[in-house]
Amino acid sequence: MVDDLQIYNAAQIIKSGGLVAFPTETVYGLGANALNPHAVAKIFAAKERPNFDPLIVHVADIKDINMLTKELDGRVLKIIEKFWPGPLTIVLPKSDAVPDIVSSGLPTVAIRMPNNAIALKLIEFAGCPIAAPSANKFGRISPTTAQHVKKQLPDIDCILDGGSTNIGIESTVISLNDDGYVILRQGFIGEKDLNTVLPKSKFPIKMENKISSPGLLNSHYSPLKPIYIIGEKMPEIDKSKAGFISFTAKNFQDYKYVEFLSMNQNLNEAAVNLFKALHHFEDSDVDYIVAESVPLTGIGIAIMDRLTKAAYKYKF
Ligand code: TXA
Ligand code: MG
Repeated sequence: MVDDLQIYNAAQIIKSGGLVAFPTETVYGLGANALNPHAVAKIFAAKERPNFDPLIVHVADIKDINMLTKELDGRVLKIIEKFWPGPLTIVLPKSDAVPDIVSSGLPTVAIRMPNNAIALKLIEFAGCPIAAPSANKFGRISPTTAQHVKKQLPDIDCILDGGSTNIGIESTVISLNDDGYVILRQGFIGEKDLNTVLPKSKFPIKMENKISSPGLLNSHYSPLKPIYIIGEKMPEIDKSKAGFISFTAKNFQDYKYVEFLSMNQNLNEAAVNLFKALHHFEDSDVDYIVAESVPLTGIGIAIMDRLTKAAYKYKF
C-alpha cells in the first residue's frame, strides 16, 4: 500500500512532466499534468493510443472545473453535487486552458472527480488537474490492479499500488443536450441514477461532440486470446483448452479453468472481477476464453458492453 510520501514523490513526477499510474475507484489511470501538452503526449505514446481519442481530466476539487470549462450551467452543478466524487465523467465545453491534445481537438473536455483517496491526494499534491486514460495499451484489457498496469506498461515512471479497484469498470461518460443527458459510455452510474437529477435527452449527441472514439467503437478491452460469449455464434470449442467466465455457476464442469464473477450473482461484484478474469486467462495457458452473459440491468449493462467489445474482433 501507499503512504503520503510516495504520493508526494509521484506528484513531483507529475509536476515535472512525467507519467504516474494511480488507482481510482474504477480502474487504474495513467496520469500526466493535464495542462502540459508535452506531458500529455507521453500518455499517447506509452499507450500507443491514436490521437483522435480524447482523455478524461481528473480533478480533486469542484472549483477546478471553472478553469477547465467555458460555461457552467446549473444542471452540471446538480449532477456533480450528486455523483462526485464518483464514477461519472461529464463532457463540457472546454476552456483555452485545456490543451488541444487532451481533447483531441474537440471543443469539449471530459472531466471527473475520482472517489479514491490516493487519486485525490495525488491531484492535490501535484497542484494541477490530471489527464488520465485507463493504464493499458490501446484496445487491451483495462487494469484493476497495479500488477495489470505493470504487465502492459512496464516502463512508466511510477505506479502507485492501491490494491484492487472497487468498482472494476470505467466511469459512465455523459454529455448534455438542451433537453437532458446522453450516455456516451455505460458504467456504474446508470440511467436510473441519472434520471433522479436530469431527464434523458430524446436526441443523440450533438454533432460537434460526435467523435470516433475507441471507447465508443465496437472493438475494445480485448484480451490477446479469442473470447466468445455463450449464446452467440462460436467455433467448435475444446473445453479442456478453454477458460470459462461464469456468472450463474452452472455448466462449467468441462472447462480447463473457471473464473466465477460472483457466487451469488451480484452484478457489482461481477463488475469488480470481470477485467481480473480476462487478465487471468490472457496470462494462463488456455487457448481461448468463453464467457457467460449477465442480465442487462444496473451495471450489468456496462459489463455486457465491455464483454461484447472484448469479443468483437473474434466474432465468428
Ligand atoms: O473510469 C474511468 O473513466 C477511467 C479512470 C482512469 O478515470 N478512465 C478511462 O479513460 O476509462 P479512457 O481514456 O480509457 O476512456 C475515456 C473515454 C473514451 O471513450 C473517450 O473517447 C471519452 O472518454 N472521451 C474523452 N473526452 C471526450 C470528449 N471530449 N467527448 C466525448 N468523449 C470523450
Ligand atoms: Mg480505456
